[in-house]
Amino acid sequence: MQICSMSVSSFPSAPQLFRVRHGNSLGFPKVTCNEKEILGGGSKNNNRTMFLLGFGYVAQFFAKELIKDGNWKVLGTCTSTTKKKKLEEMGLGVQVFNSSDNEVSCLNSLTDATHLLVSIPPITSGDQVLDRHWNLLQSKLCNENLQWLCYLSSTGVYGDCGGAWADEDYLTKPMSDSGKARLVAEKQWLNLGHDLGVSVQLFRLGGIYGPGRSALDTILKQRSLTDSQRLRGARQYTSRVHVADICEALRASIRKPSSGRIYNIVDDDPASRAEVFAFAHTLIEKKWPGQIKTRNYSDMSGSNNQAQVQPGQKRVSNARLKNELGVQLFHPTYRSGLESIIKSMENPFH
Ligand SMILES: NC(=O)c1ccc[n+]([C@@H]2O[C@H](COP(=O)([O-])OP(=O)(O)OC[C@H]3O[C@@H](n4cnc5c(N)ncnc54)[C@H](OP(=O)(O)O)[C@@H]3O)[C@@H](O)[C@H]2O)c1
Repeated sequence: MQICSMSVSSFPSAPQLFRVRHGNSLGFPKVTCNEKEILGGGSKNNNRTMFLLGFGYVAQFFAKELIKDGNWKVLGTCTSTTKKKKLEEMGLGVQVFNSSDNEVSCLNSLTDATHLLVSIPPITSGDQVLDRHWNLLQSKLCNENLQWLCYLSSTGVYGDCGGAWADEDYLTKPMSDSGKARLVAEKQWLNLGHDLGVSVQLFRLGGIYGPGRSALDTILKQRSLTDSQRLRGARQYTSRVHVADICEALRASIRKPSSGRIYNIVDDDPASRAEVFAFAHTLIEKKWPGQIKTRNYSDMSGSNNQAQVQPGQKRVSNARLKNELGVQLFHPTYRSGLESIIKSMENPFH
């Protein structure tokens, strides 16, 4: 497997990182991982290996940052050989893995992981990676190497909060099948972490945007909105977060792993999608006048009834992210996020 590593780092060195042991208060099953190995603590070597289970949008962005930071081996998985090839061209070490596969020797290098970031979304019954490969993951990760395990979840687990602010202690009551599956998956990863003696960093992400994935891109591609986008567009509040801020939160969590805390990863400004699209439109119009059709985004729902209450309304709080992880957002609002994206965009009309 191809491996990336550089020499300079802004991350703490391995000995500063630590395993956080769980108590029994959560009612988890007895720890089955070799206690002697765990209590030995720390990695055998000083190398840090980030294993990205699912080289998705966030993981790719993060991988590039780690490579730039240096002193990391970055390994990970994707589901197709075509994507593997593209990722390898970017200098990443990649294995093809599909959670529905039975043959998973491609996961053997998990043994080397000092850090594991999980981006693979659940299927309706829960997390397919753990449903099918629990024993394998447990055996590969049950060593003194693994120090940090982060599962990327979604604010969808809160369901409809009637427009109220939802912090991490807010009752989870997902309405959608995907929200319900996500909650099951969160518990499964917490259980694995408990078995391994490693605390799981649980990140509940708002709608992810960034370069190549934003309202600007949707407008520029002149795509018509899907039904689900229209429905979400009609919501008064939608939590979102710029991918650079997710990476910042990941770095903060690596520096200061918590013992099983959940963090909402969202910006300060849960504005409606209609508002975001209108702003994106203005930015494009300013930079490339007369190139896109005028549009009234207040009609995003396809309904004239703006007072119609859409399900899933919530304002997600990021107070814990700031107070405990000490994260200062690069993009506290969609405005600065979109401005930074358009600034580095090449002219799409040439
Ligand atoms: N998009 C959002 O706004 C949003 C909001 C909240 C939470 N989230 C969740 O946050 C996480 C990170 O988001 P993201 O946007 O970076 O995700 P993403 O780009 O959709 O990436 C998902 C990754 O999972 C892999 N994957 C999917 N199904 C798989 C399977 N059956 N077996 C193995 N690998 C599989 C994909 O591989 P391939 O690409 O090779 O197929 C991809 O690498 C995801 O779990 C996502 O669902 C997303």
